[in-house]
Amino acid sequence: MTEKQLKELLADLSFQEKLGEIQQITGAYFGDSGIVTGTDEDHILNEDEVNMSGSVINVVGAAKIREVQEEHIKNHPHHIPMVFMLDIIHGFATSFPTPLAQSCSFEPELVEAIAHETAREASVSGQHVTFSPMVDICRDARWGRVMESYGEDPYLTSKMGAAAVKGYQGDDLSKEGTIAACVKHLAAYGMVEAGREYGTVDTSERFLRQYYLPAYKEACDAGSALLMSAFTANGGVPATADKHVMVDILRDEWGFDGAVITDYGSTRTMKSHGVPETDAQVAKLALEAQIDIEMCLYCYHNGLPELLEKGEITMEQIDRAVYRVLQLKNKLGLFENPYRYTDEQKAYELKNNPEALALARESVSRTVVLLKNEEKILPLNANDNKKIAFIGPYVEEWDMYGGWSIRNQHKIDVKNIHTAVSERYPDGDFVFNDGCMLLGDDEEMVKFSPKRAQLYKEYIETDHKSRKERIAKAVEDAKNADTVVMCIGEHTKIGGELSSRANIVIPKIQKELFDAVAEVNDNIIVVLFNHRPLDISDIAEKAKAVIVAWFPGIMAADGITDVLFGDKAPTGRLTMCFPHTVGQCPIYYAQLPTDHSPVTEDYYVTGFIDCPLTPLYSFGEGLTYTEFEYSNIKLSKDTLSEGETLIASVDVKNIGDRDGVETVQLYIRDPYAAVSRPLKELKGFKKVAIKKGETVTVEFQLTTEDMKFYNVELEYIWEPGEIQVFIGPNSTIKEHIDFKLV
Ligand code: NOJ
Repeated sequence: MTEKQLKELLADLSFQEKLGEIQQITGAYFGDSGIVTGTDEDHILNEDEVNMSGSVINVVGAAKIREVQEEHIKNHPHHIPMVFMLDIIHGFATSFPTPLAQSCSFEPELVEAIAHETAREASVSGQHVTFSPMVDICRDARWGRVMESYGEDPYLTSKMGAAAVKGYQGDDLSKEGTIAACVKHLAAYGMVEAGREYGTVDTSERFLRQYYLPAYKEACDAGSALLMSAFTANGGVPATADKHVMVDILRDEWGFDGAVITDYGSTRTMKSHGVPETDAQVAKLALEAQIDIEMCLYCYHNGLPELLEKGEITMEQIDRAVYRVLQLKNKLGLFENPYRYTDEQKAYELKNNPEALALARESVSRTVVLLKNEEKILPLNANDNKKIAFIGPYVEEWDMYGGWSIRNQHKIDVKNIHTAVSERYPDGDFVFNDGCMLLGDDEEMVKFSPKRAQLYKEYIETDHKSRKERIAKAVEDAKNADTVVMCIGEHTKIGGELSSRANIVIPKIQKELFDAVAEVNDNIIVVLFNHRPLDISDIAEKAKAVIVAWFPGIMAADGITDVLFGDKAPTGRLTMCFPHTVGQCPIYYAQLPTDHSPVTEDYYVTGFIDCPLTPLYSFGEGLTYTEFEYSNIKLSKDTLSEGETLIASVDVKNIGDRDGVETVQLYIRDPYAAVSRPLKELKGFKKVAIKKGETVTVEFQLTTEDMKFYNVELEYIWEPGEIQVFIGPNSTIKEHIDFKLV
């Protein structure tokens, strides 16, 4: 449709139709959709109102979507099609590693490729919009949703978020194989105090702009068609009512003209925050903040008619929101083809499609992080006459998808580690023993929340005699083996929304198994399945090798087997620090400097008297199966002015005995500025393949743009003075080379 036609359509709509366009309903209106997230009110819309609703969440399946759309167009007074939206977070028919795992690749190209494949699969299944990417900066591993993020760093998150948007949307949203992205959750949802879900956020305008907003902005600049407001209140102002962020910054400064949607019932959460009391008050605040669509609640529906009648809002305000929804439909090409690319046959064919499975498998080695590899115990050799015991619940568990995945599409085809390893090496001298269940009934979250425990009841060991016997049998197997591979970790359902944890450790039953095995065998390799950084201090001390696998998705078993036996080397790097203990949380590499450290090992960092100042493993850390030597770090000039480019370069030599891939990272520090600046800030990274014995020169470009920050007056500026540049394999590098901004 042309702009003119779109405007004519808007002018022709009745008030009821307008209210419908900005109403998102749940798929539960159309019978069981299979997926429900968040919570829902009783259905209160009548049939006519349902028929006029502009969008729906959680209707799944090509045939069902076609049917719902057909009926909808027939019954809508202007035959306007609906938009189908869903949380498609790390894959659709093909489940890929979780977003946090994807960020560990340090490869925006991989994130883009995964999003592109996801869009291809989701669009033939009838979906139009995914509530992804989530670019909330996450510095506290207790928060359940860190698995859905790209980690703790604003620069990396910005690159990954923009790559995801490009992957979903391509260049033109009306084209085949695309879906619209919805960047979320504005703003700073990841900053909730102590990682408590939906908890308080309180950030200064400077920190908000400096660290939290850039990733949303970059996703908007990359063309994200939608944006979602957060459940949280920042400094007491609910995000869905935050005119400063939603209008002054998002609309006026950034020029975002896409549709803004509330989170699922975040209009009710505003009431819980105790700001507005009535639906009408909620509606007024949200409309004034230019929130266009209300997800699954009815404050607009209930409140706007009354507000309009009283003259507290104008029809222009409502029209602006409606127009943005119509524009979204137009961008998606729905007026020309309301079914877009829905195709039952293709949707079926794209399940188990070899290209996607190859990408999913390839992405495993690129996202897992090898944190330790003493005596080069990895990779394993299946033919060296040594016995390997694979022990732990994740040896037999097929569900390594992780939270927020579209489940159960492939259960039959999915392998576990036992099947993948024995298929690959049928003559290997292996023993497989799960040793225990994923959870015991002594687990805090099981005892504390019986209702929640229902979610994973089939994974809880309740028979104490059997628990002892199974662990004893695993110990026997470990005793008789040369090497033990322990596949342990969090349950797949204890990450994601509403899954914050106060104790970020592996479940007690598995720790009991690990400790018992460690008593009898020194050669332990741990493969850890986890949503978030965990406190693994004790495990890391006792194990010779640790692979952080996160939740690697549908090809987890083959992908992990590739890594264990060296067909592929692990090349991921941490994008969130692993603490020594939960008491260190939130912990992140880009801390601000201070002094009077309780211990003197690092003058600038503060901490506690009963644990190290630094994390157990820091941002950017990770090993691979070869080693690299850094030398000859150079800057092309020793001053930099506006409009100039400085080249920082380094020689990286592969000094190990196999070809490899290194993630070269560049950080800066501005030691003296108008406001305190972080000890280090990532400003560049490059993942480079380097052949055995070869040296590669890696270059980074820096401009004054990279040195900018918000000063006391909130101006975004760079200041003359010294800048330190650190180039190396991770954020712990100490040596720097300096230049002056002039
Ligand atoms: C709540 C979550 O916070 C949000 O990220 C998600 O997209 C919506 N529910 C819809 O499911």
